[in-house]
Amino acid sequence: MKFKTIIEPFRIKMVEPILMSTSEMRLEFLKKAHYNTFLLSADEVIIDLLTDSGTSAMSNTQWSAMMLGDESYAGASSWYKLEKVIFEFTGMTYILPTHQGRAAERILYGTIGGVGKIFISNTHFDTTRANIEFSGAEAFDIPIEISESDLHFRGDMDVKKLKELIVLKGAENISAVILTVTNNSGGGQPVSMKNARLVSEICKANGILMILDGCRIAENAYFIKHYEKGLETYSYRDIAVEMCSLADGFVMSAKKDGMVNMGGFLALRDEKLAAACKNLLIITEGFTTYGGLSGRDMEALAVGLVEVFDADYLHYRIVSTTYLGEHLHQLGVPVILPVGGHAVYIDAAKMFPHIPVNEYPGQALVCELYKAGGIRSVEVGSVMFGKYDAQGSLIPAANELVRLALPRRVYTQSHLDYVIEVFEYLMQIKSKVNGFIITKETKFLRHFTAHFTPLERHLVSQ
Ligand code: F0G
Repeated sequence: MKFKTIIEPFRIKMVEPILMSTSEMRLEFLKKAHYNTFLLSADEVIIDLLTDSGTSAMSNTQWSAMMLGDESYAGASSWYKLEKVIFEFTGMTYILPTHQGRAAERILYGTIGGVGKIFISNTHFDTTRANIEFSGAEAFDIPIEISESDLHFRGDMDVKKLKELIVLKGAENISAVILTVTNNSGGGQPVSMKNARLVSEICKANGILMILDGCRIAENAYFIKHYEKGLETYSYRDIAVEMCSLADGFVMSAKKDGMVNMGGFLALRDEKLAAACKNLLIITEGFTTYGGLSGRDMEALAVGLVEVFDADYLHYRIVSTTYLGEHLHQLGVPVILPVGGHAVYIDAAKMFPHIPVNEYPGQALVCELYKAGGIRSVEVGSVMFGKYDAQGSLIPAANELVRLALPRRVYTQSHLDYVIEVFEYLMQIKSKVNGFIITKETKFLRHFTAHFTPLERHLVSQ
């Protein structure tokens, strides 16, 4: 007998109280944060869906492993344990620990990037793009057109465009092709094995380095096992191993599918490239047997990288994300379908057709969600990816999305039912919601620190 209620495949042993604020309190908190939810204090939030990064609850096995942490500067036993787990899963010989994903990105893209160099991805994550552009190189996104894509694999790269770009720019100028699995900035959609194989073949034929940004590779494996023909009998881990075998390098923010609160790594096959990267690692992160991590962090990660492939966990994880997305869809919320693995993405431009892109409809939804229900989300639209032309006019992002990212093993089904109810209310008041202007911003990654002013003094939710 199969029952449809999703139950969390774990019991809760320790709890963290939530401040149940009122909407009046939240309006004050929001004003103080200049209407940028990154600037809120976390205890002002009821349900925090800002990110699935570093927000996982660790298991009792991970916590107990932490007690074994070897904090030696060089040659810590915790490192050898972690190195073995990473090697067995990536098959890559040269492994560099870092304190988080972007440190691995800075080291790799700082080494192979630079002025005149080109990177191509299904979609670069914002820190990936920032590290590439900071090196002086250029980053091109070539996600597959929706009309061309397989319904279940909208994270795929457009291989036709990849071939065209290689001819246009010259293979020798392309530093790497980066396949982001799942495609976070492109709606959290998975990438098929078929696509990964094609990208790998094209890279090999042209002598171009293929890198996997695999911070959600276990979630991606779930979709492959269930929706792609030919790999049904594989375990989730086998699917991930197979995908790694196609690439020359692997960058991981372990704060996602590593199931830890801090950590990352870079894995490479090429000895020369690894040596150049190790140089930078030692200068900026730490010695090669700890990177930016303490021994106890490495112990927790070694366990997390195994736990994440547990079939019951992955099933609960993906099914609960789908539950949230499908219920919002039923309410008429313009959700990106099919729902991806770690998050539900909402098309804010469609939800608020009366708010023009230069008044940031995504930011308007983020603020209303917080004001109405204390739910923190993140804008993935023109605040995050917008640029200015020479006249100072906004060049908008391709989409005005809002992401509700689900931390791993943190919220229960009743928390998700609450989020659904808050959306039910927002659907009633949506025509009265106003846009924003940006009053302060930085050149890189402005969304983290920008200040906003609402175009009308009062937000509508009471
Ligand atoms: N690559 C992808 C696909 C990511 O989603 C992230 C982080 C990174 C790289 C950078 O890793 O944060 O450890 O330095 N994504 C987080 C998010 C921040 O909220 O999606 P990091």
